[in-house]
Amino acid sequence: MNSVDNLENATKQRFRCIPVPPARHVPGIEEDARNGLLSRPRSLPPKYFYDDRGSELFERICKTSDYYPTRTEDFLLRQHAQDIIQKIQPSRIFELGSGSSVKTQRLLDACNEIAHFPSYTAFDISEHALLFGGETLSNRYAWLEINLLLGDYEAGFNHIPRENGSRLILFLGSTIGNFEQDRAVRFMNDLRANMSSNDRLLVGFDRVKDARILNAAYNDKEGVTAAFNLNILNVLNNELSANFDPENFKHSAYYDTEKSQVEMHLISSCTHLVTLSTLGTTIEIRTGERIRTEISRKFTNKSLHNLLGQAELDVEQDFVSSDGYFSLVLAKLV
Ligand code: SAH
Ligand code: AVI
Repeated sequence: MNSVDNLENATKQRFRCIPVPPARHVPGIEEDARNGLLSRPRSLPPKYFYDDRGSELFERICKTSDYYPTRTEDFLLRQHAQDIIQKIQPSRIFELGSGSSVKTQRLLDACNEIAHFPSYTAFDISEHALLFGGETLSNRYAWLEINLLLGDYEAGFNHIPRENGSRLILFLGSTIGNFEQDRAVRFMNDLRANMSSNDRLLVGFDRVKDARILNAAYNDKEGVTAAFNLNILNVLNNELSANFDPENFKHSAYYDTEKSQVEMHLISSCTHLVTLSTLGTTIEIRTGERIRTEISRKFTNKSLHNLLGQAELDVEQDFVSSDGYFSLVLAKLV
């Protein structure tokens, strides 16, 4: 057994992820693949990126020099964590799409400094990321009570107990940008319905900017984003007994100025057949055909206020990075 297996076993023994039952029906991979791959234009929801390898590739993207969002948001958190924690004094930090919870450490460090000790709940669809994050935080903060919730946050939050005290709810990384507007409003509405007047929501928003910066961020020189994009085909192969050959596809990502969104696609470089055994079907994919795998919307002051406003949330503070690339919005119930 190698050291990674050892770490994984140790992690699995220390922490257990609690499955969150869906409050409403959300399609699984079979339904999503049927709807998204058997019709044109072909598309897949980005939540399927995050198998174990996909979660690790995402962590590597965050460290590339081209992908500015992570370090910019991290810097904002380092700057403002003290003020945020001092003001809210949360009894719990509740993080959605927590990944490996790296940036969360800025807020927990601020808690440490003022000897304020909240508990921490992480909610993610990736067990691998949750266990890694849980282990890292428990090694760093001996006082921290950690709960790991495994589920799909698009299925609503009715099963998440409301509690006394104030919660600081985190939705970082501009993951909100991976939703179309109607889905984003529904997600924010679900969250609002689970919030009390003492709770605060801290959301990361990647901002509209020069297309060259955005195109570079999603086409990093090391090719990590390309590997992340192509890995979704391995997920389909594993989950649907399919036989996609990643060699037959090229990564494509570009900023659509009109829509203010980066779009990621996989483009077929030849005409070929793919069998999806679980779906009982074979599809022909032609040269140049695309599968859209992700949108990543970029926000203006107006569009982010509009989104939160539609979900009846008020912007209390907006911490904008000095280059205007990213902002962290603190929101509360209207
Ligand atoms: N917050 C981290 C990670 C962002 S990556 C950061 O800012 O770096 C997006 C995260 O959301 C991943 O950890 C992924 O597993 C999770 N995720 C994506 N879709 C999800 C869904 N439908 N339900 C729950 N988690 C989801
Ligand atoms: C998680 N999400 C906000 C990232 C983004 O930038 O849209 C995922 C990602 N896709 C390519 N690079 C990073």
